[in-house]
Amino acid sequence: MKVKPISWLSRITLLGVAALLVSVAQGTSPIESTVSAIAGRLTEAFTPEELRGLTEETLRPFVKPAELRSLASEYWRFDVNVPVVVSVMRDANQTALPFWLEGAGFAKADLVVRNEYTTYEVWQRAYDAGSVGLGINGFDKHRPHYFVSVGAQDPDARLELTNFVPEDQQVFEMGVGASIYHDWPELVLSEVPEALEGQALLPTIRGRAREAHLIGAFRETAFPSAADPDQVLLTWNGDPRTSMAVQWRTSPSTERGFVCYREADAAADAPWSEVVASMRALDDPLIINERRVHRFTATLSGLKPGTAYAYRVGDPESERISDAATFQTAPATPEPFTFFFLSDTHNSPAAGALLDAVLARDPDAAFALISGDLVGTGQYRDDWDNFFAYGAPFMARRPVMPSIGNHDAIDGLGADLYLAHFELPENGPASLAPQRTYAFEYGNAIFLMMDVTEPIAAQTSWIDAQLEQTSAKWNFAVMHFPPYFPEDSEAAIREAWIPVLDRHHVDFALAGHVHTYMRSHPMRGGECVASPAEGTTYLITISLDDGGAMPPKPDYAAVMKKPGVALYVRFRIEEARVVLDALDRDGNVFDMYTVERP
Ligand SMILES: [Fe+2]
Ligand SMILES: [Fe+2]
Repeated sequence: MKVKPISWLSRITLLGVAALLVSVAQGTSPIESTVSAIAGRLTEAFTPEELRGLTEETLRPFVKPAELRSLASEYWRFDVNVPVVVSVMRDANQTALPFWLEGAGFAKADLVVRNEYTTYEVWQRAYDAGSVGLGINGFDKHRPHYFVSVGAQDPDARLELTNFVPEDQQVFEMGVGASIYHDWPELVLSEVPEALEGQALLPTIRGRAREAHLIGAFRETAFPSAADPDQVLLTWNGDPRTSMAVQWRTSPSTERGFVCYREADAAADAPWSEVVASMRALDDPLIINERRVHRFTATLSGLKPGTAYAYRVGDPESERISDAATFQTAPATPEPFTFFFLSDTHNSPAAGALLDAVLARDPDAAFALISGDLVGTGQYRDDWDNFFAYGAPFMARRPVMPSIGNHDAIDGLGADLYLAHFELPENGPASLAPQRTYAFEYGNAIFLMMDVTEPIAAQTSWIDAQLEQTSAKWNFAVMHFPPYFPEDSEAAIREAWIPVLDRHHVDFALAGHVHTYMRSHPMRGGECVASPAEGTTYLITISLDDGGAMPPKPDYAAVMKKPGVALYVRFRIEEARVVLDALDRDGNVFDMYTVERP
């Protein structure tokens, strides 16, 4: 990849560029509140059927003139110090031209730009020194999103680009090999006309089109909230021996909440301790039947190790409170334990049925890991409503510890809803947002929960430090993208993380993403080794009923199957061995394996 941002530093002053490696978060655009207001008016005026059939024509009367001006010019802004020509590269297959483009004075040039998948038309306009304001990609969520290049009209002028909106704008050099989407850096330009070569290239993220998404955008939740709590979820954000984090949801009519808890074997008239929960409103303006819910979070601390607790959530005064459920704290000193590993649940009923089955089969299991793609579209709250509804009985009884998949932080738009739903440890790499990458220990095992949607290299030294300082015997690294899988493996993860996993002899790397079950032979440095005492076992599972084809089995795979049904992997951790088996909800065994390490 021939991206050369550094060479531009001598010619372009990159004021406002915080760093070359940035995570572009949702909500940095002034468009969001405008679109939310329009969505509110549309929801009031139209039936659900009309909303689902919305077109640009039917929605336009609901856009106020000032809002239209904002959508035409405040979506993407920057200042230039000299007269320039701005080029907007638009996918030639995008049906509707962005509504503002011709009105803003852009004309189609006789030029095209290409990458492997897309041909872009080039629309150009001259600007004097000063502000440049560009509009939305469209009211649909068309991908690929347009991108921009800027060239000084006077080739000898020194061009400065400043005051970017969104403010974390990167600037690359226009040319073959340049990357144009932060969320797909490997996709590079393959054809660039000479007239644009060397210009300042402003990349974007493919998912930005969702910021103004109104056409085909309206959804309904199958599981609306009520004044009484639901979606009760246990996680850990501290020591599993002495703490528990509890989360739940209500409708906006409920504004406060508590966790009431006591030891499970307390007398019937024993008092309940109370912890007040923090509350935040979640607003999804595109959910027709319920755009707002309230989400509560509370952390119980100072608990006794190895103890069963009964708890209820809600408001005891108004009697809007859940039935009592129980959880168990981790033992004070390591004892053998069982946990479940799932991946790619994709808010499917099959994953919920699987979770119901696992607890019935192993009622003493301690917790579940899900290695990403919990839902189909992380930005859709109704997907999360499905996820929690299907998994409800399990999630109120055992902690669920997730890692982020590409569907949970889709299109490079961040993981706001994932983070709103899960309270997790804040012990990840200092350079990344908290709770996305984290570690926790249970018994004699440590679990490194990696975020593959964040910069990979930024997490390497953190892995090293966690494994250096732990006294846990068994080491697990959990990452959504598999380092080893034919045709769909992650070179960046292999290069950055495998040497560290090898150096510390991590026992298991757990992944998903490819919707196939695979267990590798023990591996070290990319090669198979004789026994698990010498290498790491790479394990991929799928917790969704998904059949279909799979690539030929590679030599490093001990087992590779496309089960067609949702699987979970049951791990039994003992002092000197780990026993795993992969099961479906009916208990059919797809794989069994034992690692012994005295
Ligand atoms: Fe997936
Ligand atoms: Fe995935």
